[in-house]
Amino acid sequence: MDRKYRAEPYRIKMVEAMKETTKKEREAWLKEVGYNVFAIKSDDVYIDLLTDSGTGAMSDAQWGAMMIADEAYAGSRSFYRLKETVESITHYRYMLPVHQGRGAEQVLMGHLTHRAGLYFISNSHFDTTRAHVELAGARALDCVIDAAFDTQTPHPFKGNFDCEKLEKIIQDKGPENIAGIIYTITNNSMGGQPVSLENLNAVSAIAKKYNILRIIDGARYAENAYFIKQREAAYADWSIEAIAKKQFALADVFMMSAKKDGLVNMGGLLVIREDQTLFEACQARVVPMEGFPTYGGMSGRDMDALAVGLNEALDEAYLTHRTDQVRYLADRLTKAGIPVQTPAGGHAVFIDAKAWLPHIPQTAFPAQSVVIELYLEAGIRAVEIGSFLLGNDPDTKAPLISPTEFVRLTIPRRTYTYRHLDDVAEALITIHQRKATLKGLKVIKEPAVLRHFTARLAYLD
Ligand code: F0G
Repeated sequence: MDRKYRAEPYRIKMVEAMKETTKKEREAWLKEVGYNVFAIKSDDVYIDLLTDSGTGAMSDAQWGAMMIADEAYAGSRSFYRLKETVESITHYRYMLPVHQGRGAEQVLMGHLTHRAGLYFISNSHFDTTRAHVELAGARALDCVIDAAFDTQTPHPFKGNFDCEKLEKIIQDKGPENIAGIIYTITNNSMGGQPVSLENLNAVSAIAKKYNILRIIDGARYAENAYFIKQREAAYADWSIEAIAKKQFALADVFMMSAKKDGLVNMGGLLVIREDQTLFEACQARVVPMEGFPTYGGMSGRDMDALAVGLNEALDEAYLTHRTDQVRYLADRLTKAGIPVQTPAGGHAVFIDAKAWLPHIPQTAFPAQSVVIELYLEAGIRAVEIGSFLLGNDPDTKAPLISPTEFVRLTIPRRTYTYRHLDDVAEALITIHQRKATLKGLKVIKEPAVLRHFTARLAYLD
């Protein structure tokens, strides 16, 4: 048996039927929704790789935990079980449940942006994080290492901060104008790429030197810890839990979309290490925005499922299989000559559409063209992470050109098998053979922010 890719470390106890549709149907639906796959009904999708957010399968232990949940408005047992779990994983004192990651962003960014002229710096802001920074009136600056943009040259930690660039930004803008440094682990936008502990140590030291708040955007912190164990020699013998704790020890605040490494369908966390004043300020905002502080947007059963899921996501056998699946798909595409972000990251394969389809200019969204073609070919839904997603400059409103044009094939947790991934690979290999026929697109209607969710597009002639 080929042990290069680990088999599923679980048996399947419940199944959900999948539906196949015809190419003719898919063609009509695409036209109807303005070539935006966010508007396609999930029933009309065969394999859904839109996101790994809230799309995973829960375990029997999680479903079991939901049955003993306490739905009290205030002080529920489920809240205390979740708090105890989060405390044991992070060693942070204060925890506020929120409805999902962006709930934590709204509460925290809104509080920290108390005057005009402030900035947040991240290795790479995720799109909703950037949106909340901008909605709060601040500006989001990214400073990931240059190696992240060179998709064909491997680097073990393409999610890392460029520390020189970071310090230069702090000095240019003035340390008093930096509201926070956000470690996005793993770095979603660059390909689910990890950040090393060596890098986090260096960034933390810079933040301390200038007295800047250190924030973890840790939707995929367990996958990050797994890669540290695999790729950073100093931590090869550490447990995943110990590496995770070390990550938390280098920050002050932990925001989490629990829909990823929490292994739940809905939920989020805002966790504060020890600053009581910051906690109280966030708590005061959670009440009107999310809910009473002992549920904050989550039902008791969701909090119990999360308490179990957080521990399951730290299991090394699970993490090995999870990242092996992603690597398996990346390896199949690479062998066929399709350029992907290398090495493979934690939650998705990122196809480099700029390199793959050089005949489509970035202003005509090459990655979106692939997303549409993949749905048309096989009913498989992926997502564009490029200039279409990036949108327009919040100040000048001019269209922004992304440094990368990625097609993200996002693998939900514990949901699809290797055989499903073969179908994905084969559909893309078929498209590879006719790639020169793919055409660019233009936006014909868009909202003011986060346009990729609802904009309509049309093919260029
Ligand atoms: N931070 C990161 C790094 C994320 O990837 C996401 C969500 C969020 C914050 C926001 O969390 O969705 O729970 O409000 N990422 C999803 C994705 C949506 O598809 O990558 P949320």
